[in-house]
Amino acid sequence: MKKKLISLVLASAMCLTLLAGCGGSTSASSSAPAAEPAATEAAEPAAEPAADAAAEATGDSDLATKKVGVCIYQFNDNFMTLYRQELERYLIEQGFAKENITIVDGANDQATQSGQIDSFIADKVDVLIINLVNSSSAATVTDKVVAANIPLVYINREPDADEQQRWADNNWNVCYVGCDARQSGTYQGEIIADLGLDAVDFNKNGKIDYIMIEGDPENVDAAYRTEFSVKALTDAGFEVNCLDDQVGMWDQAKGGELVANSLTQYGNDIEVVFCNNDAMALGALQSIKNAGRTVGKDIYLVGVDALTEVVGYVISGEITGTVFNNHFAQADGAADAAINYLTGAGNEHNIQCDYTKVTQANAQEILDSLQ
Ligand code: GAL
Repeated sequence: MKKKLISLVLASAMCLTLLAGCGGSTSASSSAPAAEPAATEAAEPAAEPAADAAAEATGDSDLATKKVGVCIYQFNDNFMTLYRQELERYLIEQGFAKENITIVDGANDQATQSGQIDSFIADKVDVLIINLVNSSSAATVTDKVVAANIPLVYINREPDADEQQRWADNNWNVCYVGCDARQSGTYQGEIIADLGLDAVDFNKNGKIDYIMIEGDPENVDAAYRTEFSVKALTDAGFEVNCLDDQVGMWDQAKGGELVANSLTQYGNDIEVVFCNNDAMALGALQSIKNAGRTVGKDIYLVGVDALTEVVGYVISGEITGTVFNNHFAQADGAADAAINYLTGAGNEHNIQCDYTKVTQANAQEILDSLQ
């Protein structure tokens, strides 16, 4: 009941900020974000090292016969491409046979993805790993997968708190594996706050003037990164001024286009460009250069994900900073959770991992760990 109420309040708050434009998320997602810090539910990855559990309970040879269905919201997404490559690699390393792992592209269309889930159910896969297209479809998807008695691991797009409560109440073999996007937003804001007002306030109005380029509101990451990046600045005592807040759908070309428009409209008043992810930051960087501006000299730019290209730009100073969205930990954690269901070890319903702040100080180290 309490959670329902909080979700409602959050949902209304999101609608209000939608009307307000700048100063909050422009997300109009029908799914309220998880009402409580998910990290408090399970701060650690799956209770037992899955590989050991698998070896004890079934032996690797058994995993080789298990069929895994993986639904990705769309293949045309830089971060989810790294994620699915690692997921496949790790599943094989744990003993699954490559031919038993089927990864499908939802092409950013929920109807397409729902059809793929139906096919996996008809095919009697042993476990499903799903990156939803629409978070709001979680309840429907959960119901049909649970009815087919197939364990389910959600990834990347976190179902809302009410939905997660249902898994716990019914003791279903359903969980979510991901990172808490509030942390990534906070790190983005801190990267700017740490520069100090003197360095950022080029127009000397006493405020940090920024634009926000948001991801697809179907992922609660977009709303949280938007909110918490700005909150980190105000928490650090800065006054902020949002000049523009647009939805770039995680897309490099779209992000670049939106930043180009903003630069035309607000020119030198833009001191900081916040992008909810690195793909959009790459687009933003191109537009910043085209406008004759220089990151680190007369504007700052931050993203999230730590794509190798972006980390390279952090090293060279062309992008101020990013936040490592650990696709290794998330993909391996999702695979471990799938294994834990197959071996009967079971899982917590919410499994979290951490983001890492990336600035020039540690970018080389992060780059080395990515390669
Ligand atoms: C986010 C990631 C974005 C995009 C999105 C897809 O976590 O930062 O780059 O991949 O997931 O839902």
